[in-house]
Amino acid sequence: MIKVQVPGTSANLGPGFDAFGLALSIYNTFSFEEKNDGKLTIRGVERKYQSDTNLVYRSMQKVFKKVGYRPRGLYIHTAVDIPISRGLGSSATCIVGGLFGANALIGSPLKADELFDIAVELEGHPDNVAPAIFGGLVVSMNDHGKNTYIKSLVHPCYEFYALVPDFPLSTSDARQVLPKKISFADATHNLPRATMTYLALTNGSADILKLCMKDRLHQPYRKKLIAHYDVITKKAREMGCLNTCISGAGPTILAINSVDNPSFQQDMVGYLAEKAPGWQIIPLAPDHTGVQILGG
Ligand code: HSE
Repeated sequence: MIKVQVPGTSANLGPGFDAFGLALSIYNTFSFEEKNDGKLTIRGVERKYQSDTNLVYRSMQKVFKKVGYRPRGLYIHTAVDIPISRGLGSSATCIVGGLFGANALIGSPLKADELFDIAVELEGHPDNVAPAIFGGLVVSMNDHGKNTYIKSLVHPCYEFYALVPDFPLSTSDARQVLPKKISFADATHNLPRATMTYLALTNGSADILKLCMKDRLHQPYRKKLIAHYDVITKKAREMGCLNTCISGAGPTILAINSVDNPSFQQDMVGYLAEKAPGWQIIPLAPDHTGVQILGG
């Protein structure tokens, strides 16, 4: 039995659309076993996901195909902690879990970088799968099929909170509301802000992080799909939180707080309970390790 733990991720981080991703301390865990029964058995998920269209299984097949291996039968168990369709990278965990699990089952013939390329092909963009694999704060890009990334550690002056609503939002719906073209002004608005966001998160410039996360490429369009977005983000700032952004394609809001503002969590719990009762708050830390094979 092989067990694979994959962290959830928060992509974009405001101005870093389709480029930045942060691995967080919330995990999906996948267990794999090759069986002699010639069957595919999937457990731990709703019945509708227990077939050969399952994303974990389809990802495993990519590895088996690449190395020319035919498993006799497969048992897959999924233990889910990451909220589904909430912008916390749950589908990326299925892809990464399936790829790394299949690879480990057959003696690890493929390297992490090769699995990264397959993961990007399956997910369509690298910003969730890169931190899910490598951990930390990652900037990644796909250049004509070649994927490249740089990983950095997040400065310990920050803590993170996922503010998660009770409604899902599919990434394709959230991409559909984006414009086909953007203005030169919007592009140049984002460039310095994205660079500063990445640097401030790594070097601890909390005062800069307060100013630099405003985005013009996706958040103005997507926030309309997220009920309570404006009031919750405004309230978070009033509670002394450094900044907020849409986590991935949403609808979760990621709040970045200073460790010197310890009242934030309690204040936000009280506010959500009263004003937006469908929302929950999950305290999170950066995960600097990424996917882990835990063994049997
Ligand atoms: N960068 C992607 C997006 C992340 O914002 O659409 C979603 O998976």
